[in-house]
Amino acid sequence: MAGKLAVVVLAAGKGTRMKSSLPKVLHPLGGRSLVECVLDSLTDVDPTHRLVVVGYEADQVRTALAHLTDVTFVEQTEQLGTGHAVQQVLPHLQDFEGDLLVLNGDVPLLRPATLRQLLEVHQTRQNEATLLTAQFLDPTGYGRVFCNDDDVVTEIIEHRDCTEAQRQNRRINAGVYCFKWSALSKILPALKADNDQQEYYLTDVVKDMTPVMAVDVDDAQEIQGINNRKQLAEAYSILQDRIKDEWMAAGVTFLEPDTSTVDITVQIESDVIIEPQTHLRGNTVIGSGCRIGPGSLIENSVIGSNATILYSTLSDSQVGDGVRVGPYAHLRGQAVVGDNCRIGNFVEIKKSTLGDRVNVAHLSYLGDATLGNQVNVGAGTITANYDGVKKHPTVIGDRTKTGSNSVLVAPVTLGADVTVGAGSVVTKDVADDSLVVARAKQSTIPGWRSQRYAQSDDA
Ligand code: UD1
Ligand code: CA
Repeated sequence: MAGKLAVVVLAAGKGTRMKSSLPKVLHPLGGRSLVECVLDSLTDVDPTHRLVVVGYEADQVRTALAHLTDVTFVEQTEQLGTGHAVQQVLPHLQDFEGDLLVLNGDVPLLRPATLRQLLEVHQTRQNEATLLTAQFLDPTGYGRVFCNDDDVVTEIIEHRDCTEAQRQNRRINAGVYCFKWSALSKILPALKADNDQQEYYLTDVVKDMTPVMAVDVDDAQEIQGINNRKQLAEAYSILQDRIKDEWMAAGVTFLEPDTSTVDITVQIESDVIIEPQTHLRGNTVIGSGCRIGPGSLIENSVIGSNATILYSTLSDSQVGDGVRVGPYAHLRGQAVVGDNCRIGNFVEIKKSTLGDRVNVAHLSYLGDATLGNQVNVGAGTITANYDGVKKHPTVIGDRTKTGSNSVLVAPVTLGADVTVGAGSVVTKDVADDSLVVARAKQSTIPGWRSQRYAQSDDA
């Protein structure tokens, strides 16, 4: 791309219309915050500077973006409007020569290709400013863009400053602009807050620039801004359609796509079947050939190939190849399950590592446990890992079998090839190859019922 490019994202506003204690640009949309979505739309352009203007709850925004090391934060201590926000970058771009791309922090659905095309038009036409526009059926709330016949912009007027006649113009300003920096930097300091909100509007600069060109986007959904929760929900649904369409094109089946959601951060290999009402979130990876759902929630988890997960919840966990999970299992907090295991009904696994071919088929809790290979955890086996103050580990060796309803009181180690009798409460370590039974011996009194009835009056 010819010429240098700097980018500034405006993210200092409170977002009053969201009615939220969270700054608007940090509201999540499919696994990322709004402002992260905006920054991610820069993948096709190659800026030398990435500036983010922060103000309202600036520290929160900085912290949320701390992982983006190439971003420079610019403080706008008072939020006096979008023009005032861009004024704050002046000291940071003093010697900069090239174009400045300005993006509102609340326009999260922009496609990288759209920004690339905007820059191409801007540079080939040698405009002083080029901005994205669209014809909206309902332009309420947006700034209206007034042009002469050749898409040359004469003026942008905010909805609230428009006359009734001007409001009939459906061509809206997307809040995405490319400016020739040498021209903009001269005009910016002279902006006036001469409008209904008494704010410094960035949009006012177009009156003093020439030529300024409007470029209609092909897909008006891309430039939908987020000012309230309803628009946030609409944007989410647009994003979901995009994400699922892409995965379907890549060889993933969704049985009822409208009932499932997938974060942008999720990876799905081919020939996966996503059953209805399944939600994949965060940094989740689903291996090839898996069948996920119905009714499952998988968050920040890695699933091997050919696994099935039925009506279950997994978070921050890992599951090997060929594992069957559910129905109604809960894996969380670094549960790591080896290959070909079976995790059955009403089983909870927390911060535990299981080897290969382990069965935990019914009604168990494993917490802070390490299991070898081919362990069979009997129905209702519980690790008592918490003494009220600290969590303690349980270790179970290869091929060990725990009887139904056993309680393993941690810290405790069972060796390999151990058999635990049903109903045992195991409090001491058990060596390899042992049978352990830790429960009261059964005592049987023959004929007890008939003796008792013989003594009673009404027998
Ligand atoms: C703005 C445009 C409007 C356009 C719309 C598109 C202006 C004057 N109006 O209106 O023409 O149709 O976007 O979505 O620019 N911000 C700051 N500092 C401030 C004020 C705002 O950083 O002092 C940031 C906000 O965090 C937000 C962005 O700028 O990310 C836009 O601000 P917002 O108040 O939402 O502008 P709109 O009224 O939507
Ligand atoms: Ca807005």
